[in-house]
Amino acid sequence: MDAFNYINGQLCCEDLPVADIVAQAGSPVYIYSKATLLDHYTKLASSFADVDTTVCYSIKTLSNLSILNVLKGAGSGFDVVSGGELARAMAIGADPQKIVYAGVGKTDAEIRYALECNIGWFNIESEMEFETISAIAAEMGVTTRGALRINPDVYDPKTHAYTTTGKKETKFGVDIDRAEDFFDRYGRDEHVKLDSIHLHIGSPIYSADPYVAALKKALVFIDAIRAKGMEINVLDLGGGFAADYETGKSPLAADYAAEILPLIKQANVNLILEPGRHIACNAGILATKVLYTKTGGEKKFLIADAAMTDLLRPALYQAEHFVYPVQLADGAATPERKLTYAPEGGVTVDIVGGVCETSDTLAHARTLPPMTRGDLLAIFGAGAYGFVMASTYNTRPRPAEVLVDGDTFKVIRPRETAKEIFAPEQSCL
Ligand code: LLP
Repeated sequence: MDAFNYINGQLCCEDLPVADIVAQAGSPVYIYSKATLLDHYTKLASSFADVDTTVCYSIKTLSNLSILNVLKGAGSGFDVVSGGELARAMAIGADPQKIVYAGVGKTDAEIRYALECNIGWFNIESEMEFETISAIAAEMGVTTRGALRINPDVYDPKTHAYTTTGKKETKFGVDIDRAEDFFDRYGRDEHVKLDSIHLHIGSPIYSADPYVAALKKALVFIDAIRAKGMEINVLDLGGGFAADYETGKSPLAADYAAEILPLIKQANVNLILEPGRHIACNAGILATKVLYTKTGGEKKFLIADAAMTDLLRPALYQAEHFVYPVQLADGAATPERKLTYAPEGGVTVDIVGGVCETSDTLAHARTLPPMTRGDLLAIFGAGAYGFVMASTYNTRPRPAEVLVDGDTFKVIRPRETAKEIFAPEQSCL
């Protein structure tokens, strides 16, 4: 479900016309729906409620404090990958025991901070990292808990090469063949209680099969570790549950749960999930205004006021987001969120931004109704890895973010200004 619907030809977020939000908050603007976020969170949490599950929303996906606050209110814990993300979680008063800290490059200062915060788990990525965390914990006189990130050597061929992580040859985790040695060496450490494992295989994963394959390997591993008298109490399955970039593309939370839960029960462990995209993707759009239309050879372009600096995914991963007009012509049929959308009288265009890079494309070869200067477009599926990957390249201020709740909206991050971008340099002049 998501709450972006056309009402009388006007795209609305919940009960508010997107055009009205843009009129007040300006363009480009990220618009998020609170009801959608909560719907996705609740469906996921309830699908896995049959076992003891901690849902740790992956902050990297969409990290605005107001969004984290909404999810905290629904009961979510958090997955962090840096001291900065941990500081965000702490800033909204998250329960530190429901925080998992992943990432291959934790600095000493970040480890110390996480130990001070008394987080629930460190996801441990290498032998050297384990020893470092244990040494810092010893020096601080504290104990913590570790989940070994195991590389199950499975992957989803449909996932972009940049976002698959479950193969042997990645920088993430330790090979499953090496994991038993890891427990032999560190399984009885005094400062880091190593009683959990972590398996994140990629993002997005468009079927339950790779999870099942990874879990089957994990079951054999868990048995082997328990046979040696060590404990495995928690299994963190990472993130990766997909979202509909096109209607009907991704399984529902309940579909994943139906395949995964029997194996979790068999393993007799508590479960952690680190979903990001599944919750946030379709809870957000990027609204942008057409600045100009132009042609280049045979090609037609719409030049938008948003660019790769605002939404990087199309340029970086050749990601396809559907893009529709915010206002449909009188009597026009509602688009169906398929990349094949071809309205009557449509024109095929590339939608591009104003950055000085040829890769600065938001969408390739889309057929849209004729659009002109001042018209608004909505780029769907922009809630996940949208604003968080925005940059200030070309000294372009990042968009505003707003959160809609029913018939009201709130600016949850004001539009950045150019001055804010260069102020730290100015103070050094
Ligand atoms: N846990 C770990 C350890 C991760 O590395 C990730 C994502 C997640 C959880 C959340 O995955 P999700 O549930 O959102 O699929 N920027 C890329 C995606 C990078 C994903 C990185 N890791 C994109 O725009 O598609």
